Amino acid sequence: MLGILARTMVKACMVKPSSLVKPVSVTRVTGRYLAHQEGLPKLPVPPLQQTCEHYLAALTPIVDPEELDHTCQLLEEFQKSGGVGERLQKGLEQRAKKSENWLSDWWLQTAYLDYRMPVVVHSSPGVVLPRMEFSDRQGQMSETLPVEYLGGKPLCMNQYYQVLSSCRIPGTKRDSVVNYARDKRPPTHITVVHNFQFFVLDVYNSDGTPLTVDQIYIQLEKIWNSSLQTNKEPIGILTSHHRNSWGKAYNNLIKDKTNKESVRAIQKSIFTVCLDAPMPRASDDMYRTRAGVQMLHGGGSRWNSGNRWFDKTLQFIIGEDGTCGLIYEHAPAEGPPIVSLIDHVVEYMKSTDMVRTPMVPLRMPQKLRFNITPEIKKDIEEAKQNMNIMVHDLDVKVNVFSHFGKDFPKSQKMSPDAFIQVALQLAYYRIYKRCCPTYESASLRMFRLGRTDTIRSASIDSANFVKAMDDPAKHNTEKVALLAKAIKAHRAYTDMAIRGQAIDRHLLGLKLQAIEDLAALPEIFMDTSYAVALHFNLSTSQVPAKTDCVMCFGPVVPDGYGVCYNPMDTHINFAVSAFNSCQDTNAARLAQALEDALLDLKTLLEQTPKAKL
Ligand code: COA
Repeated sequence: MLGILARTMVKACMVKPSSLVKPVSVTRVTGRYLAHQEGLPKLPVPPLQQTCEHYLAALTPIVDPEELDHTCQLLEEFQKSGGVGERLQKGLEQRAKKSENWLSDWWLQTAYLDYRMPVVVHSSPGVVLPRMEFSDRQGQMSETLPVEYLGGKPLCMNQYYQVLSSCRIPGTKRDSVVNYARDKRPPTHITVVHNFQFFVLDVYNSDGTPLTVDQIYIQLEKIWNSSLQTNKEPIGILTSHHRNSWGKAYNNLIKDKTNKESVRAIQKSIFTVCLDAPMPRASDDMYRTRAGVQMLHGGGSRWNSGNRWFDKTLQFIIGEDGTCGLIYEHAPAEGPPIVSLIDHVVEYMKSTDMVRTPMVPLRMPQKLRFNITPEIKKDIEEAKQNMNIMVHDLDVKVNVFSHFGKDFPKSQKMSPDAFIQVALQLAYYRIYKRCCPTYESASLRMFRLGRTDTIRSASIDSANFVKAMDDPAKHNTEKVALLAKAIKAHRAYTDMAIRGQAIDRHLLGLKLQAIEDLAALPEIFMDTSYAVALHFNLSTSQVPAKTDCVMCFGPVVPDGYGVCYNPMDTHINFAVSAFNSCQDTNAARLAQALEDALLDLKTLLEQTPKAKL
């Protein structure tokens, strides 16, 4: 049964990277892709004074007034004519002139490859797809990838070319990413893992035609039947370790030629399919949450955490009970391209076209061998322990908010995303009686090689609203006016961010420029306010999809939350995460507070006569 879903997923994703854009000749594809990319504007460097002003505004709701005064003085000094700020700004502008994107390499290094925490929980998002009724459906893929738009502007499509045939490689100090998709002969195999055993499955025939769904099924069945033993070493769990430890273990692992070849086959493969062992049963109520943790970390060494290669950019996960989803390694891409791929897969699975299978016997998929020395065995044991600690520490709640979706805020002429973010500010304020630094990802894909910037959802206006909302001395009309202002401010920040004018990446750029150019860091980067501003107690992201799915990720600070949501027309899928080791946080509590806040906002708007808005 399990293979039925796996084979359709495999077939739906079985796109040679070069055929992601209409399958004409490679040169035309490349030409069209390049023309599109080169037509995109370059990421701007925002004006220094603008960033300093917006930075002070962003600090206002989250730092003490004395701290704010101090930072204000530091900023004045920093941006004065002929000062350090001006020098760094010029350096950044020079960098922008000389490179395709002044930020992208720095961002890849600092946000991902230099980050030494395990990719599991701390970086890689999981996606829960709708639970499947397994059935025997087949279809044809379109092999077209139209350029995407945001606010009417074409987006950079580069990330799509980074997610297939790519893999993160651990290092003892810093990681790297390899991508084989643009090789002269791009890989033609995927890897499949079942009961911790990895296999190479060729998904193209020698004449270049893709295997049919039936052929893939036969191959998956062979893999399944030849990996029934459950006592194998979970070699893949090594990839869940702290990056320095994994880097060291990796160098040791690939000293052996067989191991090196096996690892290379996984790294080169188009993607990985994880055929998971059954997980503990969950009530209908808890099903989504259980599926969320299965996608994020696999449930621990007893369950499916060893049934992964966490460095692999894209891993589809299929359980025996209809649970399915994926996990992706974040360095090469953000959620939206991954989710577009999912929308394609899900659409594909709905199609009923039958593909006739030619009766050519296929070779048994090759099993990847690993020679496990006592040292490797010790590394596996350490990684298992570390993984189990992470599993116990992660607190997840996946919910469907079923009272309304984008429809309600739209009916009020409000941005749905801003509405949800303001509700989240209210939920947090109600629990903690304070506003906290909040990160929402904003796409920079309007620019060539653009990744993300930060929308700072805690604003002066959102703070004014959340303080007023439960104040009995305030009238509803005033609350509604403050809510409308907070929502407008959020939407304005969003517009500023997607146009490349937000503050976070600019400040990071100035700091990295200072590290390159100066003997000492300017004081604004050593300031308490700066540390507070970067301590994101709420790390959030909207990852919209046509498919009724939800992405989940872990918090970015020990006392924080990760909140991801997919607003559909009439409901909203949410995933909230926190750490159990922090006594002050609780995923279910925040999820409940968010539901209450959303409902209260609706009631407030409905109870206040329109004429007074
Ligand atoms: N009145 C009526 N409708 C409105 C409205 C208003 N005042 N404001 C917005 N809408 C509509 C929009 O037209 C849109 O309509 P659609 O559903 O037909 O597309 C819809 O409401 C949603 O708009 P909004 O809620 O404002 O959000 P958005 O789609 O502009 O998205 C971001 C905002 C920040 C999520 C988006 O800009 C972005 O950057 N996305 C990428 C985030 C990312 O990379 N995440 C992954 C990290 S791993």
